[in-house]
Amino acid sequence: MLPFSHVALKMVSTFISLWFLGTTISKDMRMDAVFPPVVEPSDSGLPDGHLLPLGCQREPDGPVKEYAEPLTPIEFWNLHVKDYVPLVYRQAITKAPAATNWRSDEYIREKYGDLDVLVETKNEDRGTRPQRMTLNDFLDNYKRKDWYVVSLLPDPMRADMQVPRSLLCGTFKKTILESNLWLSAGGTKSLLHYDADHNLHCLMSGRKDFIMIDPKYDDLLVMNEKRQYSGSSWSHLDMNRIDLLAHPQVSEVPWTWATLLAGDCIFIPAGYFHQVRSYGRSVAATIMWAPLNKFNDSDCATTDIDAYTALSDVQLQWTYKKGDKSIDMGFVNVEVELRGNLLDLMAERNDTKLTKELFTVYYQRIVVDEDQDGEDIDEEDLEVIDKMFGVLDINKTGYLTRQGLENLDIEILKDVARILDEPHGPVKENDDVGTRDEL
Ligand SMILES: *[C@@H]1O[C@H](CO)[C@@H](O)[C@H](O)[C@H]1NC(C)=O
Ligand SMILES: *[C@@H]1O[C@H](CO)[C@@H](O)[C@H](O)[C@H]1NC(C)=O
Ligand SMILES: *[C@@H]1O[C@H](CO)[C@@H](O)[C@H](O)[C@H]1NC(C)=O
Repeated sequence: MLPFSHVALKMVSTFISLWFLGTTISKDMRMDAVFPPVVEPSDSGLPDGHLLPLGCQREPDGPVKEYAEPLTPIEFWNLHVKDYVPLVYRQAITKAPAATNWRSDEYIREKYGDLDVLVETKNEDRGTRPQRMTLNDFLDNYKRKDWYVVSLLPDPMRADMQVPRSLLCGTFKKTILESNLWLSAGGTKSLLHYDADHNLHCLMSGRKDFIMIDPKYDDLLVMNEKRQYSGSSWSHLDMNRIDLLAHPQVSEVPWTWATLLAGDCIFIPAGYFHQVRSYGRSVAATIMWAPLNKFNDSDCATTDIDAYTALSDVQLQWTYKKGDKSIDMGFVNVEVELRGNLLDLMAERNDTKLTKELFTVYYQRIVVDEDQDGEDIDEEDLEVIDKMFGVLDINKTGYLTRQGLENLDIEILKDVARILDEPHGPVKENDDVGTRDEL
């Protein structure tokens, strides 16, 4: 058994889902031009919407609830995040320089052209890893190539991006994982899927349409094989042609919809199905944070959430700056998944020391138990465990105390996460970076 072949748990959370956002140019532009889609009564005796895009099979329940101004963090938690209810904020980031500047390829080229991004093909190809290239190379070619930037937002670009007030205090602000950049010439159509983390998807330029489906309809949506600890998955349904003879139950699935224009944001809760379509050039930035079941608002009374806050002014767990070897996208929240779970396991076992033996129990829970064949830990797992525990055990004493783990530098935890998950996209050696810098 290869550990990497099924390390699909939360450890690869967004990684998996972003991977499958490969897109296809629609074959039926007529239907795409209409959003939300309308049910076309069938005159052939076949079910309404048979072999038409998702949404044509049943009337929507309505648009996603929207607000003219972002809620306070406490309202956002109580009314939406706690219960995983999506929302749309209109014109939430209009003060962000990105809302004006990123409309122009020339601006992006001049200020950020030398930064690397990961690029996927629009034609879905699950077996192909993303390419890595500079924004300049992307912008030179993207209008005629099948390319789609789906990448960590490079650090310098964070200065242009605003954090809406809803995230500016409490647990939200402390658990921001990463921000992603989405840039294409249009004609993208994602699969129906869900992600492991909460996501605020903000559009800087262009238009994007969303079909949203409650996770409780999971059983009706022809999902990819379920993995017990995985936070993300996708549907095998063909978004361009829903085959109602093969999957008649799709007509029973209620859905809501949203159209984002520049300056708007949509909150896509962790685990919530969404299918995304774009037509012309669009640029978006997303902010992702961990789905936790408690919200600590202790700093909210003393934080000025209405002070303009750039994304460069808040802490993110995974970042990319020029010269970094890998673009660490879609890794776990190491505070929650590593430090938190390991501390919980110690408490559960009433152990004062985290030994390799106890770490093996943790590993078994997150990686091996998920294997439905019920295979046990094998040689390769043991090697991975040795490697991971070797990084954690900074004092080389063979154990970590509670306090040692509580105070362990987050960079050590990130190195441990990197052992479990392969980098998303090519890794640049320092030499390559040097060469490129000299060009
Ligand atoms: C909430 O956060 C504050 C500040 O980080 C901390 O001191 C406090 O113990 C936390 N409260 C709970 C209930 O976790
Ligand atoms: C946990 O361990 C301590 C020290 O060994 C012991 O005193 C205590 O009774 C144990 N608690 C539980 C719940 O097992
Ligand atoms: C390493 O040793 C130092 C000094 O004894 C201690 O303070 C720290 O907690 C230890 N760290 C770990 C992870 O065990």
